[in-house]
Amino acid sequence: MKTLGFIGVGELALYTIKGLRRGGYDGAILLSPRNREKAALLQQQFDCRVQRDNQAVVANSDFVVISTRPADCLETLAELRFRPDQVLISVVAGVDIAQFRGVLGENLKIVRAMPVSSAAAAASPTLVYPDHDYVRKLFAYCGNSICVDNEDYFNQGSILACVYSWFFALFEALTQATQGPRLPADVAAELVMGMAKGAAELALASRDRSPGQIAESIATDGTFSKLGLDLLKTEGAFEPWRKACKLLEQQLAEND
Ligand SMILES: NC(=O)c1ccc[n+]([C@@H]2O[C@H](COP(=O)([O-])OP(=O)(O)OC[C@H]3O[C@@H](n4cnc5c(N)ncnc54)[C@H](OP(=O)(O)O)[C@@H]3O)[C@@H](O)[C@H]2O)c1
Repeated sequence: MKTLGFIGVGELALYTIKGLRRGGYDGAILLSPRNREKAALLQQQFDCRVQRDNQAVVANSDFVVISTRPADCLETLAELRFRPDQVLISVVAGVDIAQFRGVLGENLKIVRAMPVSSAAAAASPTLVYPDHDYVRKLFAYCGNSICVDNEDYFNQGSILACVYSWFFALFEALTQATQGPRLPADVAAELVMGMAKGAAELALASRDRSPGQIAESIATDGTFSKLGLDLLKTEGAFEPWRKACKLLEQQLAEND
């Protein structure tokens, strides 16, 4: 088992490490000391070891996860010395491998990954670029790894890590819309989330049909499903979702 170090112990480190441990990952995990509260919690409850500084994390790890905010990551890495046999895993959104190379040189292996907070529930579909045997297996402990061989795919796919957060807002709107005297809120919420999970499971298990084709096959003439779907289409309900994705795509391109 390799030793995994985290530089930047914030929300992402917290949910990823919880997910790794809950998924059965029992390798050593080392933490940078900044943000003592979270580091102490991870040390006590999730068998991690807080190091005295960032360089100690690098020196004692085989794989180093850089998990600071984007604005901090290059400056933080510039102060550190890596060995050529190590692998840097960047979970930082919007920072390309070429930008890391500018600070770290050409020798270090660098892999990008985008775990989302469902990692804590062992359900993060983690995008990985480029494919790397250990990194792929690592993120499978807290969900599944989706590896791509092109950084443009990774950048474009990263937009969906934000779409992930919008789903919660949609769940909330649908729960609010259906709860009331005729349906308790907790039952509405369970049904909303269960239906979303069921739809996703079916679409993943039916690769011969697109999700749109599945929708059309359920919402046939005369059904209540079609009544609602037709209204959503007439009202342009899907257009703002396309626009929001485009906005993020433009923002990422400007960061390049
Ligand atoms: N959260 C998500 O849902 C999510 C999803 C996908 C990807 N990401 C990526 O994950 C990264 C971390 O996000 P986050 O949400 O975990 O952010 P966060 O909660 O703000 O955590 C970042 C942590 O890094 C620490 N830090 C800053 N500079 C440091 C340094 N030089 N040495 C050690 N630690 C340092 C910060 O400490 P201070 O607070 O003291 O500055 C903070 O504790 C980001 O780059 C983001 O793009 C996040």
